[in-house]
Amino acid sequence: MTTDHQDVFEPPAEIVDRARVKDWRAVEARAAADPQAYWADQASELEWSKPWDKVLDDSAAPFYKWFTGARTNIVTNAVDRHLSSATRNKLALIWVGEDTSKVRTFSYFSLNREVEQMANILLSMGVGKGDVVTIYLPRIPEIFFAMLACAKIGAVHSVIFAGYSADALSTRIDDSESKLVITADGSWVNGKVFPLKKIVDDAVRYSPSVENVVVVRNTGTEVTMDTVRDHWYHELARLPIAKGHCPTVQLDAEDPLFILYTSGSTGKPKAILHTHGGYQVGTYTTLKDSFDMKPEDRWWCTADPGWITGHSYLVYGPLLNGATAFMFEGNPTYPYPDIWWQLVEHYGITSFYTAPTAIRTLMRFGDAWVTKHDLSTLRLLGSVGEPINPEAWRWFHRVVGGGRCPIIDTWWQTETGMFQITTVPSMPQKPGSAGRPVFGQQAAILDEAGHEVPVGTEGFLVLKNPWPAMMRTLFKDPDRYRQAYWEKYPGVYLTGDSARIDEDGYIWVIGRTDDVIKVSGHRLGTAEVESALVSHPAVVEAAAIGLPHEVKGNAIHCSVILANGVQPSRELEEDLRNHVAETLSPIAKPDSFDFPEKLPKTRSGKIMRRILRARALGQDEGDLSTLENS
Ligand code: WTA
Repeated sequence: MTTDHQDVFEPPAEIVDRARVKDWRAVEARAAADPQAYWADQASELEWSKPWDKVLDDSAAPFYKWFTGARTNIVTNAVDRHLSSATRNKLALIWVGEDTSKVRTFSYFSLNREVEQMANILLSMGVGKGDVVTIYLPRIPEIFFAMLACAKIGAVHSVIFAGYSADALSTRIDDSESKLVITADGSWVNGKVFPLKKIVDDAVRYSPSVENVVVVRNTGTEVTMDTVRDHWYHELARLPIAKGHCPTVQLDAEDPLFILYTSGSTGKPKAILHTHGGYQVGTYTTLKDSFDMKPEDRWWCTADPGWITGHSYLVYGPLLNGATAFMFEGNPTYPYPDIWWQLVEHYGITSFYTAPTAIRTLMRFGDAWVTKHDLSTLRLLGSVGEPINPEAWRWFHRVVGGGRCPIIDTWWQTETGMFQITTVPSMPQKPGSAGRPVFGQQAAILDEAGHEVPVGTEGFLVLKNPWPAMMRTLFKDPDRYRQAYWEKYPGVYLTGDSARIDEDGYIWVIGRTDDVIKVSGHRLGTAEVESALVSHPAVVEAAAIGLPHEVKGNAIHCSVILANGVQPSRELEEDLRNHVAETLSPIAKPDSFDFPEKLPKTRSGKIMRRILRARALGQDEGDLSTLENS
């Protein structure tokens, strides 16, 4: 992709007229001149029970602190403050089940009742400030209640995507020392039940810290309930203890809100820690500006709450803005590939935020599935998770957006908590470029030695300014936090991505530079896939790499050294695929395999993935001088 011959989409006049940020150049310049003043302005639109002493405390950088001395709670701003205005009667959440005849709606008033009930139950089980609660729930309203209930009482939620296996769940429960798990009997996946409770039973067998498991009835599947440990949520909800007002605990702005495990370069997932004060300011502001949040909007973010996108822009961001969030339990192609468009039409969605992989999947079914629906309510479209190729961008724009809707591409990470590179609707858009650093941020593209590269040259993407919703540390691992993100180039944040910048200051993200692979927008570590593979008796050693894939963005390819006497076969490949699904997650299933005699390694024993990639793609293997010659 060169920076010449780019398409530039100027936003339509009616979009600019309606936009909160009309003169984006002025806002950008003002925020650049004094980022802290910019963030203080944004923060003052929210409620704080005690104001901050300092906007940014960088005295112990890279352990930055925001709004120090302030007291607040994200639930005060996401729920409570809406109860004293007409917003209390507004829909906070519209939920539609995979069986679309199942619909549940919650006004801000009734959402608050649900959150209070869940919070009362957590308190009655002895959960208190700072305790970590593991949430392993599908896309059902109770995941909102559970996250908000934890936040309300100062507990720290750790949401695990409800597609991870028992091993992965157990590792994360142990690492966080959770005493309580909130789950459901099962979840609906394309008409079949995925047995969540059974997976929790298996996980908890190896996780002795867990004292209680709260089970939401969702699929009505039969499950085994331990008489001491397991409790049906609907039964707890009938107890007197669940009733009544539950105050929102006022916390220090820097008190932890959640941890979220994500993949890094080693097999051990990283627990990213976010806090109440800065995170609420960052997610509130970025959603408001980039998606031009207005009271009349109906916002649909298709992400699962198990990922950061679901945390920031399905649960917290919309509620902080007093918007109506829409959540769908199902998948985009079940029962037919027009289910999303049917829902957009029926519920009058105005802003629709999804991932390139879903767009590419739906694109392949043809335009008719889209165009038979009236999508005229749509005003803005959004994309996240991986670079969006211009072809998918144009299809999304033309067919879904009817050529009217700007596409807000948003580049960010679990670590950043909020958008970092994107556009606001009044800015021109370039298909394939995420846009510009958010207001108050500066990005740069560096070479290995830390010098800024010329326009159009690929290099390491870094962020220069701290921002309110940045992770504060890696939970229980501050050294790894410092070393992974702040050591390569002191003073700037290393994103792990490579990118180019063009002459207009637009950033073109290319992909990861580390051992993280984005597969269908899901973030996976090669080391996690490898350790799942080597736990199979037929496998001695394995190396996983990402290869370009038309729909998924990247597909996982594995080079596997087999145990003595084991012969490669289709059955074996299928067996290995299922083994990865069972020990890690179905989202991590390898696409393809090869079975070499040995893996290419450097003399110090590091696997040379570059060579594996070249071999798998049938390309020249390049410089082999560092290859061990044994
Ligand atoms: C990639 C997801 C290009 C990137 C919010 C990043 C993107 C990683 C984009 C973080 C985008 C995310 N364009 N690449 N708009 N958004 N990425 O933690 O490689 O699941 O580093 O957060 O996704 O993945 P994570």
